[in-house]
Amino acid sequence: MKFDYHIPTKVLFGPGKLNKLKKEKLPGKKALIVISGGTSMKKNGYLDRVVGLLKENGVDSVVFDKILPNPIRKHVMEGAALAGSEGCDFVLGLGGGSSIDSAKSIAVMAKNPGDYWDYIFGGTGKGQAVTNGVLPIVAITTTAGTGTEADPWTVISHEERNEKIGFGLIPETFPVLSIVDPELMLSVPRELTAFQGFDAFFHAAEGYIADIATPVSDSYALKSIELLASNLPTAVSDGSNLEARSNVALANTLSGFVESTSTCISEHSLEHALSAFYPELPHGAGLIILSKAYFSFFADVVPKRYKEMARVMGKRVEGIPDKEAGMLFIEALGELQDKCGVGNLKMSDYGISEDEIPKFTDNAFDTMGGLFERDPKKLSKEDVINIYRDSYR
Ligand SMILES: [Fe+2]
Repeated sequence: MKFDYHIPTKVLFGPGKLNKLKKEKLPGKKALIVISGGTSMKKNGYLDRVVGLLKENGVDSVVFDKILPNPIRKHVMEGAALAGSEGCDFVLGLGGGSSIDSAKSIAVMAKNPGDYWDYIFGGTGKGQAVTNGVLPIVAITTTAGTGTEADPWTVISHEERNEKIGFGLIPETFPVLSIVDPELMLSVPRELTAFQGFDAFFHAAEGYIADIATPVSDSYALKSIELLASNLPTAVSDGSNLEARSNVALANTLSGFVESTSTCISEHSLEHALSAFYPELPHGAGLIILSKAYFSFFADVVPKRYKEMARVMGKRVEGIPDKEAGMLFIEALGELQDKCGVGNLKMSDYGISEDEIPKFTDNAFDTMGGLFERDPKKLSKEDVINIYRDSYR
């Protein structure tokens, strides 16, 4: 048993923790605050609160408010230019995964020349080394989905090339400080709560069956899956339930730790291909659509792991042979999706056609091929086509 463990992020977790921003030691004197192009950060008063708390802490700020739900390279470059012209010395992502991921990528481009895609591995990315360092990153998360507050990863799409690719530098793109305050999540709409919760679920489940899982990532993953199985349906049906929201937020942060200690696997490559061509498809919805066919594929490869996931989701597994227990997890997954009202999602709901499956397959290998290396069993292109076909309804 051998592993390295290094998560250099200070996490402040719990209801009311946002107020700590006024006293916490911050990594600079002027923040670029990165938020979405939507209205929720302003309408809910979160932006004003953050600007005010920073001010009390002696920190000035400038706001960049263009980020899309599937964030794009163009806005990374615009945000980085604004950070430079305004003399910002750190970047603060406020919002969901798209805003925090964009903050990370802006922090890279604020200190490095050229185009963001010069540094990306995969697709048409040039894979150049980042040599000038990265501005410090602070994350304040208002959703429970990507786990980005607890990992170094950022996912950005190239708006002209149908490429949606993950990137990260260890340790530079870990946030130095993350605030996870479930009170900020009470206003997330029902459907998004479900989509984001399942994104967290799959970070944990993928990391649990990845071939680089360690005892540390296993502990985080199983706890995350257990918390989501017992709390996500309540968070979806009763968004004002702070206890359920807190447990889902914790599951999400734990799944970020899974991404930092194990890895996502090719389910994420398959999903990124879908949302690279259909940016209006929420990432979590894409994962849900693929998940039953995808996870069925590995049920007989790592049956003990499936049995363990089924157990923490409340299935009785005692006395059931491992090879039969694999499918219990798939059953539990389907039941959880039904309870959250997302069991009947279809690719066709988002205008995706079955003829496009070969295109998605090539894109998944071309842009996010590295994750296939960590699957518990090697997937061929034919296998991937079959998973997409089985997911297509
Ligand atoms: Fe994800």
